[in-house]
Amino acid sequence: MDFLVVPEIEAYAEAHSMPESTVCRELRDETSRTMEWPQMVVGPLEGAFLKMMTQLVRARTVLELGMFTGYSALCFAEVLPEDGRVITCEVDADSAALARRYFARSPHGKKIEVRMGPALETLAGLSGPFDLIFIDADKVNYPHYYERALDLIAPTGVILLDNALRDGDVLKHPAPDPSTEAIQSLNRKIASDSRVTATLVTVRDGVMVARPNTRRG
Ligand SMILES: C[S@@+](CC[C@H](N)C(=O)[O-])C[C@H]1O[C@@H](n2cnc3c(N)ncnc32)[C@H](O)[C@@H]1O
Repeated sequence: MDFLVVPEIEAYAEAHSMPESTVCRELRDETSRTMEWPQMVVGPLEGAFLKMMTQLVRARTVLELGMFTGYSALCFAEVLPEDGRVITCEVDADSAALARRYFARSPHGKKIEVRMGPALETLAGLSGPFDLIFIDADKVNYPHYYERALDLIAPTGVILLDNALRDGDVLKHPAPDPSTEAIQSLNRKIASDSRVTATLVTVRDGVMVARPNTRRG
């Protein structure tokens, strides 16, 4: 992945944000050493951002689509209350095996429930509300994930969609691939969707932040 923000600024921002836990750092290190696409991990700066969002909405329940080796799931769990819960969806057994080893090492791992299988199928069987929903699985399905997330999100909750800038490819027309096309189309839809208020934040590869318009303030 290309960095959209210059590395020095990225490092400065990281150094002035809440630090990643030792377990998260070790999980990230092992992911880098052993997995084919370690850059899929959100990393320390976006991890801090996710933790901050979790705390701001006072989340007790988090739903994640796309767990990979569990870095972001662990970030959420670390700031949830003792009775908080993360449900996270994944299709890849090897990634999940690595994730589970690190969840077992963390005092917060017991808050995480892994659901194996295509996220759309898992979503069909879930009932909300969730205080925070993080969408980070296959990009072509983002439009379906977003619609289901709107059904499941709590009135005071927040929906976060990762990779909203696609390495900067969102600026290209025509879109270079179906995933970028899906993200471009969804970004347009969310920006004018009267059901939500949204902001596309330029942290890492872009995070679309959408809160439902069902509350006051
Ligand atoms: C970008 S990675 C997630 C990174 C993770 N959130 C982190 O920070 O470490 C996307 C993950 O989604 C998984 N995935 C892809 N298609 C999926 C699907 N249909 N249902 C569930 N997971 C899926 C992939 O196997 C991959 O591990």
